[in-house]
Amino acid sequence: MQGMTGLLVYIKKEVPMDAFTFYNPTKIVFGKDCVNQLGQELARYGQTVLLTYGGGSIKKNGIYEAVMAQLKAAGKTVVELSGIMSNPRMEKVQEGADLCRKHKVDFVLAVGGGSVIDCSKFIAGVAKTAPDYDWWEHMFMKRENVTDALPIGVVLTMSATGSEMNNRGVVTNWEFQKKMGGFGDALFPQFSFLDPTYTYTMPQEQLVNGICDMLSHLMEQYFSLPETNNLSDALIEAAFKNIMENANIAVKNPTDYEARSNLMWGATIALNGIMGLGKKQDWMAHQIEHSLSAFHDIAHGAGLAIVHPMLLRYIYKNHVARFVRFATHVWGLQRSDYESDEALALAGIETLRAYFKSLGAPTTLTEVGIPAEDLPAIAEKSNRYPTSYTNFTTEDILNIYKSAL
Ligand code: NZQ
Ligand code: ZN
Repeated sequence: MQGMTGLLVYIKKEVPMDAFTFYNPTKIVFGKDCVNQLGQELARYGQTVLLTYGGGSIKKNGIYEAVMAQLKAAGKTVVELSGIMSNPRMEKVQEGADLCRKHKVDFVLAVGGGSVIDCSKFIAGVAKTAPDYDWWEHMFMKRENVTDALPIGVVLTMSATGSEMNNRGVVTNWEFQKKMGGFGDALFPQFSFLDPTYTYTMPQEQLVNGICDMLSHLMEQYFSLPETNNLSDALIEAAFKNIMENANIAVKNPTDYEARSNLMWGATIALNGIMGLGKKQDWMAHQIEHSLSAFHDIAHGAGLAIVHPMLLRYIYKNHVARFVRFATHVWGLQRSDYESDEALALAGIETLRAYFKSLGAPTTLTEVGIPAEDLPAIAEKSNRYPTSYTNFTTEDILNIYKSAL
C-alpha cells in the first residue's frame, strides 16, 4: 500500500452540515401478509397493469400466486414481463416500455429485488417518451431528472438495494460496457409492500450480497464530509450495528422473522434518503463496483464486498479521525490496543473486510474470476467525479482494483 495514496488530493474537513430538501412520497406497507392489502391499494390506479418480475423465483415460492390473486380481486387487466435479469440491461427496459405503449399500460407493478424494481422504474419513465427518444443518452449519460413516468408499485422479495423507497435505478448498456445510475422525481414507487417472510427463500449468496450492499450504502454516506458531530453519522452507526446483528442471525436461521424484519427495513432506510441528509455522500465505491459488473456481470453486493474495504484502505490516511470513529463506534475497537490512531483506523477497515469474509462474501477479484489484465480497461470505464474526500484519477481506481486481486 505504501505510496499508493500519494495521488490523492487532500480536502479540507471543516465544512458545515449541508443544506437540504428532503422529499420521499413512497408509502410503505410492512409486515407478514401485508400483500393481502395490495388489491385495495391498486384500486386507486388505472385498469391495465404491467406485472414485472425476474427469472422465476416468485413462481417457486408462492409470491406470484399471492400477487395475481390481488390483481384479480382488484379486477385488473394484467400484462406480464418476466425474465428481468440481475444487473438489468437496457434492452429489457426497451422491451417493457414497448409493452406499455402497445397495451396502453396504466401502472407498473414490480415484484422482485433491486434489478426488477430498477428496470421497472425506467420502463415506466421510457414509456412516457417518444419511441425514437434516445433515453439512454438523456436519462443515464446526461443523468437528466426523469419528471414523467407511469406510476409504479413494488412487492419486495429481497433486502438489499433500497430501490423500493428511492427515486433511482441502475441499468447496464452491455454494448458500451457501462453500468449507469439514473434518477427522477417521477421514479419514486407510489407504494412498496414489504413482507419479511417473502425474503425467506433468498439464496444464501443473495442474502450475503444484500447485507454487503446495505452496509456499503451506509458507508458511502458516512465516509464523506462533514465529519463534525451530526445526527446522520449517529443514525448510520446505529443502523450499521443493527444490520450486522440481524445479519448474523439470518445467515444461520433464514426464517427468523425478527431478523428478516430488521434487515428488510434496514435495507430500505439505508438508502431512502434519510441517512445521509446534511452529508455530501461520495458514492465512489459504487462507481468502482459498477464498472466491474459492466465488464463481468458480477453481483453488485459481491463486487462491493471486494472493492469497498480496499477503497477505504486507499484513502484512510487522509481522514484518520473519521476512521478512528468507525473503528471505535462501529467495531468497538479500543485505542489502547493500538500504537497509533492510524493503526486503529486501519484495524477498523481490516475488521470490516474480515466481517464480509466471515459472511461468505468474496473479498478478492480473483474469487469472482476477474483477471489482472482486464483491470486497466475496467478502471478507464469507471465513472468518477469530484467527491468530498478525494478526486479519483484512473490511476487511483486501477490501484484500488489491483489491491483487491
Ligand atoms: O430473478 P429471480 O428469479 O427473481 O431471482 C433473484 C435474482 O436471481 C433472486 N431473488 C430475489 N428475491 C428472491 C430471490 N430468490 C429467491 N427468493 C427470493 N425471495 O435474487 C437474485 C438477485 O436479485 P437482484 O434483484 O438482482 O438483486 P438486488 O436486489 O441486489 O439488486 C441488484 C441491482 O440493484 C442495483 C444494482 O446495481 C443491481 O443492478 N442497485 C440499485 C440501487 C437503487 N435503485 O437504489 C442502489 C444499489 O446500490 C444498486 O446499485
Ligand atoms: Zn448498492
